[in-house]
Amino acid sequence: MPNVLINLYSDTVTKPTPGMREAIARAEVGDDMSGEDPTVNRLEALMAEKLGKEAAVFACSGTQSNQMGVKVHCIPGDELLIESSGHIACFEGGGPAVLSGTMCRQIPGTNGMLDIADLNGKIKADNQHLCITRLLCLENTTNVGGGRAWPLDQLERVCGWAHENGLKTHLDGARFFNACVAKGYSAADVGKHFDTVSICFSKGLGCPMGSILVGSKDDIRKARRARKLFGGALRQAGIVAAAAVYAMEHNVERLSVDHDNAKLLAAEIAQIEGLSINVADVETNLVFFEVDPKLGNAGQLSAALLDRGVKIGPSGPQRLRACTHLDVTREDMLKTADVLRQTIKAGFSQYKGSTTGPYARA
Ligand SMILES: Cc1ncc(COP(=O)(O)O)c(C=O)c1O
Repeated sequence: MPNVLINLYSDTVTKPTPGMREAIARAEVGDDMSGEDPTVNRLEALMAEKLGKEAAVFACSGTQSNQMGVKVHCIPGDELLIESSGHIACFEGGGPAVLSGTMCRQIPGTNGMLDIADLNGKIKADNQHLCITRLLCLENTTNVGGGRAWPLDQLERVCGWAHENGLKTHLDGARFFNACVAKGYSAADVGKHFDTVSICFSKGLGCPMGSILVGSKDDIRKARRARKLFGGALRQAGIVAAAAVYAMEHNVERLSVDHDNAKLLAAEIAQIEGLSINVADVETNLVFFEVDPKLGNAGQLSAALLDRGVKIGPSGPQRLRACTHLDVTREDMLKTADVLRQTIKAGFSQYKGSTTGPYARA
């Protein structure tokens, strides 16, 4: 395995800090499946309160809590609406179809976000030939959409439209607090527009695992059944919930450092010939950029960077994603830019890389 010196592959690569490990070691635990783990209970109460909701349920992963959300709202034969690049539709193994018998209707938007003009006319008529449009899923921040944080007025407008038209709303908040910090809105400002919100602790917040689903008491009761069914009801889960409580106390405000580092890296990339980026598009911790096809493809560049100790993944035939997080520094951004410069200067077309990108076989 190459020696990775700077890992910008994802914010999921963070390792628990000494303070977080101490919190984990000190955690009071009990049998969570019976509601008896005091640390999980504390975390669930904290998150419900932060989002202005009645209840919350701890989950193993973002995929699990999203799919619990879909299961709460949908039954077989239903359809959910989602932006084309939405994680729930694209990267959860077909979960809505497999676990809830629900189809995803993917709607092209802008930067992973939708507006009323995109959604108008997309709710199916009550007609025996058609499935039932039940749920709208949004993502904040967007991932493949470019790490963009939704403007609050747009969220309000789109969720208002959904509720007026009888849809439920679910938010995939894998990077929920990145959005809050970037836009300056509170968790409750966002939470009030959604029936359920999933938040990940294992990304920018630096935990080893864990997500949470928040919503009404009734929806969270249903979500607990789904979690059990999906094999995610745990026992002494306080061990990991303690990390999440710690992260809520120590790792939220500091996300602005990751955003500053991402902007610095974007500004450096903008000056490198052969790479292109719109610096103004970088709002949070995800930096997407393109490599000129005359030089090679994204997979080749990614492989060449890895050889020099920098891990940045391809996210399309010519597109790459660098992701900042609490285990990388401002200096790492400058070093990464240097390595990019050297790699492009040396040439990288000799490396193996797919011309169709990481998500297509042909
Ligand atoms: C937007 C988004 N939603 C959901 C997930 C799923 O999280 P997990 O990997 O914990 O299942 C991810 C993971 O990267 C993500 O980026």
